[in-house]
Amino acid sequence: MYEYAIAWEWIAFAVRWLHVITAIAWIGSSFYFIALDLGLVKRPHLPPGAYGEEWQVHGGGFYHIQKYLVAPATMPEHLTWFKWESYATWLSGFAMLCLVYYGGAELFLIDRQVLDVSATTAILISLASLGAGWILYDLLCKSPLGRNTWGLMILLYILLVAMAWGYTQVFTGRAAFLHLGAFTATIMSANVFFIIIPNQKIVVADLIAGRTPDPKYGVIAKQRSLHNNYLTLPVIFFMLSNHYPLAFATAFNWIIAALVFLMGVTIRHWFNTTHARKGRPTWTWLATAILFILIIWLSTVPKVLTGETANATPAPVFQKFAADVHFPAARDVIMSRCSMCHAAEPVWEGLHAAPKDVVLDDDAAIARHAREIYLQAARSHAMPPGNLTGVTPEERQLLTAWYESAVSEGNTR
Ligand code: HEC
Repeated sequence: MYEYAIAWEWIAFAVRWLHVITAIAWIGSSFYFIALDLGLVKRPHLPPGAYGEEWQVHGGGFYHIQKYLVAPATMPEHLTWFKWESYATWLSGFAMLCLVYYGGAELFLIDRQVLDVSATTAILISLASLGAGWILYDLLCKSPLGRNTWGLMILLYILLVAMAWGYTQVFTGRAAFLHLGAFTATIMSANVFFIIIPNQKIVVADLIAGRTPDPKYGVIAKQRSLHNNYLTLPVIFFMLSNHYPLAFATAFNWIIAALVFLMGVTIRHWFNTTHARKGRPTWTWLATAILFILIIWLSTVPKVLTGETANATPAPVFQKFAADVHFPAARDVIMSRCSMCHAAEPVWEGLHAAPKDVVLDDDAAIARHAREIYLQAARSHAMPPGNLTGVTPEERQLLTAWYESAVSEGNTR
């Protein structure tokens, strides 16, 4: 059933494509509205109920935008909502989580040296953490503590750092970072779904019924939008981090994550202040640079692995790859063509760690990465880069034969 690996790969690509597109739409519109909101100017001639206005130029025309705080006197005929950008981002992101981390739990989600759990348990922990995170966050916002904007932000920061630490205690570093991003993004999307849009709907219903809407709904929505504003950039960092093992697979990865959240604040502060025409606080760039340098430095602290050597025997799902008749030949190819780079300490000049944390130096490791090897070096020629180690077409056929025979479990040694 090698077709399965190919179909899976293409489904994953399609969902990732969708996820990036929807995220661009969501973040793009949200950044646009933040800047617009901060840039509004109060002028004497504004209609009653209008809070401010702004002129903009784009795409060959001028836009004249006015913001009504609480609501305009009557319901406009057409009203454009911004919500599907957010929902579609969350849904496609959740689909990615299922495809990559739940589907590939043995490889990407679980690190048995961190916590020895079954795939099902790990998936349940993942799901529960996302749900519980939102509930906890929402309770904090609605509690009396929630009335103090900065006090609440500090509490939320502590919650995020605690989650960063917690995730690194149960998952692989890579999954820990991805989950921290998913955790934060779930809060952001749930803010839109459970708070911002429902509150806006109440206001619209009041308008239609001719009642004066309560301003408190706008105030609550504004607070949640402020959180979303500061959380956006760290989320993108965490989502991209799986390409950079120094960020997620080093000793102090959770402290790195804590600093990333601070960079989200320092960077956004510059833009928020500038858009509000309150000056240009250049110090925030210095603060960001210092935080980044600290992160780089933290990533150089070596990670000491305790206990037995990692994954001496592959998990049951991968055993068929080591048991297949073609395995010895495939292993020879990998040992002679891949291991110089894909080792804990690569001998290839210029490499200091296994690329993408893919170590291919023993039977168990090779068996675990069978599907990736198949996709990277058998079905495609992505590996080795530029065919640096001169893999021959026959050798690629060997790798293909090994994977396809093992997945159909036809030829056990
Ligand atoms: C010259 C060094 C070198 C050799 C030899 C090499 N690789 Fe790689 N490999 C890399 C680098 C560098 C990356 C990271 C590429 C990137 O950042 O996109 C990588 C990434 C990978 C990945 C992860 C891809 C991903 O996007 O997650 C796999 C799997 C892989 N290699 C398999 C192999 C196999 C199988 C072979 C042998 C047939 C091989 N590599 C030979 C350097 C090498």
